[in-house]
Amino acid sequence: MSFSRFAKVALGSVLVTLGVNAGTPLSCTNTQISCKNTTAVADSCCFNSPGGQLLLTQFWDTDPVTGPVDSWTIHGLWPDKCDGTYDANCDSSRAYTGIAGILTAAGQTSLLSYMQTYWKDYNGDDESFWEHEWSKHGTCINTLNPSCYTGYTAKEELVNFFEVTVQLFKGLDTYKTLTAAGITPSTSKTYTSAEIQAALKAATGHTVTLGCSNGALNEVWYHFNVKGSVSTGEFIATEPDGTKSTCAASGVKYLPKSGATTSPTTSPTKTSSAAVPTGTGIFSGSGYLNAIIGGAIKGCIIGAGTWYTTGTCASFTAAASGSGFTLSSSKGACAIVNGALSCASGNTATVFTVC
Ligand SMILES: *[C@@H]1O[C@H](CO)[C@@H](O)[C@H](O)[C@H]1NC(C)=O
Repeated sequence: MSFSRFAKVALGSVLVTLGVNAGTPLSCTNTQISCKNTTAVADSCCFNSPGGQLLLTQFWDTDPVTGPVDSWTIHGLWPDKCDGTYDANCDSSRAYTGIAGILTAAGQTSLLSYMQTYWKDYNGDDESFWEHEWSKHGTCINTLNPSCYTGYTAKEELVNFFEVTVQLFKGLDTYKTLTAAGITPSTSKTYTSAEIQAALKAATGHTVTLGCSNGALNEVWYHFNVKGSVSTGEFIATEPDGTKSTCAASGVKYLPKSGATTSPTTSPTKTSSAAVPTGTGIFSGSGYLNAIIGGAIKGCIIGAGTWYTTGTCASFTAAASGSGFTLSSSKGACAIVNGALSCASGNTATVFTVC
């Protein structure tokens, strides 16, 4: 697949480049394709180098579940150096924070809301995850350098990074592609890596990189070269620049996002004693809390103490207290109030024990 990102439209006599808030990325006329160039290309705003292979990476998170049950989620957009190696954290002066605020200020609220659904952190801290992806990988994309914009406005290259990544992701519906090939999530079925590769190759024409954890498929990386810049150029699917698949040849599981596939059989709004942390010993540190009904993870607990089958798990901080531990979320201390878990300012923290 390939596409060009910006649509230019004429409104009266004003030429508007859709998707660009302020300045304009340079338009490129160079025809060399990154990693495939036959001569040196001097224009670093129109030619991706050394990060000439761009990877659009996706997650399939089942424990905890992130994102919609019928969709993979975005991991990131990474520049590889054409040989499987990569640079990271290339410009600490542009390690921007407050991504949601930057996108909102740039008028990109629909992009932000799409990211809030499809670009998920498994710990429930999407903002930190976006900051990490931008500063580790985004700052290494040379064609997104501020010097590559006419009339550059602060941080607009970051906006472009998220726009391009989301647009690429929208064209690579891994769930749909696998489903069309009969590869569907299952707690019992297994697949071969070759079956999964064949299905995904049908979509892009190229091999992808498969990632597995504990024998279950949980990542897919799509590989591209770029003609022109990342902002305005054309992404051209290509073969991986290194062999990095971590899935076995056979017996690969593709687990359902089971926490959200069925309606809970008990009260869907409030937690009760059915939803407690599992494990042994006293908890401390930060993490998330799963709601466990009948032995299966059915969702997770959000900051106010209620639980949901889908959405973002809240981060909780546990601290040892007496023979147990206390919990707090961003909303405040957690306590059992009227028989249900509540986390709010003004609560007196309940001391929990592990059962
Ligand atoms: C491709 O372009 C880069 C950047 O100019 C250069 O370093 C590299 O040597 C070029 N490759 C070839 C085969 O000329």
